[in-house]
Amino acid sequence: MTKTLAPSEDFLQSLKQLVGPSGWQHPDDAARYLDDPRGYVRGKAALIVLPSNVEEVSEIVRLCAQSRIGIVPYGGGTGLVSGQIVPENDHAIILSLERMNAIRSIDPDNDSMVVEAGCILMDIQNAAQDANRLFPLSLASEGSCRIGGNLATNAGGIQVIRYGNARDLCLGIEAVLPDGTIYNGLSPLRKDNTGYDLRHLLIGSEGTLGIITAASLKLFPKPQSSSTAFCALPSPSHAISLLNFCREAMGDTVSAFELMCSEGMDVLAQHFPKERHPFNGEYSWFALIEIAGSPSIEEKFETVLMEAFENELLLDSVVASSSAQSQALWRLRELMADANKLGGVFCSSDTSVPKNRVGEFIKMTDAAILELNPDLIINKYGHMGDGNLHFNVFPPKGIGKDEFMEANPTTQEDVRRIINDMTHKLHGSISGEHGIGRLKTADLQRYGDPVKIAVMKSIKMGLDPDNIMNPGAIFSN
Ligand code: LAC
Ligand code: ZN
Repeated sequence: MTKTLAPSEDFLQSLKQLVGPSGWQHPDDAARYLDDPRGYVRGKAALIVLPSNVEEVSEIVRLCAQSRIGIVPYGGGTGLVSGQIVPENDHAIILSLERMNAIRSIDPDNDSMVVEAGCILMDIQNAAQDANRLFPLSLASEGSCRIGGNLATNAGGIQVIRYGNARDLCLGIEAVLPDGTIYNGLSPLRKDNTGYDLRHLLIGSEGTLGIITAASLKLFPKPQSSSTAFCALPSPSHAISLLNFCREAMGDTVSAFELMCSEGMDVLAQHFPKERHPFNGEYSWFALIEIAGSPSIEEKFETVLMEAFENELLLDSVVASSSAQSQALWRLRELMADANKLGGVFCSSDTSVPKNRVGEFIKMTDAAILELNPDLIINKYGHMGDGNLHFNVFPPKGIGKDEFMEANPTTQEDVRRIINDMTHKLHGSISGEHGIGRLKTADLQRYGDPVKIAVMKSIKMGLDPDNIMNPGAIFSN
């Protein structure tokens, strides 16, 4: 891939002039753009530009294309694979979409809305709610992540089981291509069968093919009622049986099905002691289930859980009796990533396998990691209904992360390899929902399908021959 160039002072000056005094920041005054949420790396930037409309984005990209300057698009900065981080050996500018945060229109009769890329996900959910509709994309960082980043990374989250990934929730996009051209594809159509789908090409391209500046989103009827249950299970294989049992009885009303384990609940209890564990430390495996639909759904769900208990699919369950209780149960799941970080996790994964193989995947991966070192602590949890698991591995009890990593310099890579190899063996994917970013470029080369990688490269070369768009993401430089 072509190497981009370092911007001159004159070049940076022309960008500053273009966007005006409120449209740029010096990296020394804006450290948050250089942060990696996982704390693995620290970024840099020649300049942070904050355009306020699509024409400005287009002009910035055109100038960068002329001078071969790299651009790293930036949404809420919550990505977990360093896709938004400018690496030490690069000179790119960061282009943040945060000032483009208007909800341009909302059309409940067409079940659609048009939003700019910098809209915070939660603001979109709330706007849909005010129009008596549901925008179902939901993830732990929804209070700060932005829809442009959600689409660029094809974010997943907790309701994929019912509504699909970000990709499935998008009807059209507006985007600036690597030469500065504006593609206006903000279609509200559900059917538009007119050749290659540029929307789906850019969604999930992690800013390597262009910058999504606005999107037309799909809305859904707002469920009238919902119910949350926290269940204790004998094993992950029982979780899949329980999921199937619930879906057979309740169809598509199952809107989330998350798996958690006792190791995770312990880490959570240590770092968030105010959060209440529903079963006081008994049991090893848990499922957090959300059902949403018509008002009678709650009663039906309780009956189904009772039958599941009689069929020995679950050991115990609590059903939230208020929305405060439901939120408290969901906090156990949503705080997990923060608890892992506070607990000194040294390896975090995001892989997926066919969902009927999750039990086997967990058992074999767990055993292989413990064979490496029987004292490692493993918190495995995730989106069971999508076969998407997060393994989080900690040093043995009483040993800090830095101390452990120093004494065991190869363990992090060994653990990553074990998880990826097992995923690959079971025909899974080395990135379930977080993307490739800069962290997984080598994994993509190692495990990815060579035909797919070759086609991806020719698309990249066709659209961005000078490699200015997010250089180093997906394909290493
Ligand atoms: C989660 C993030 C890590 O599911 O994807 O908590
Ligand atoms: Zn996740």
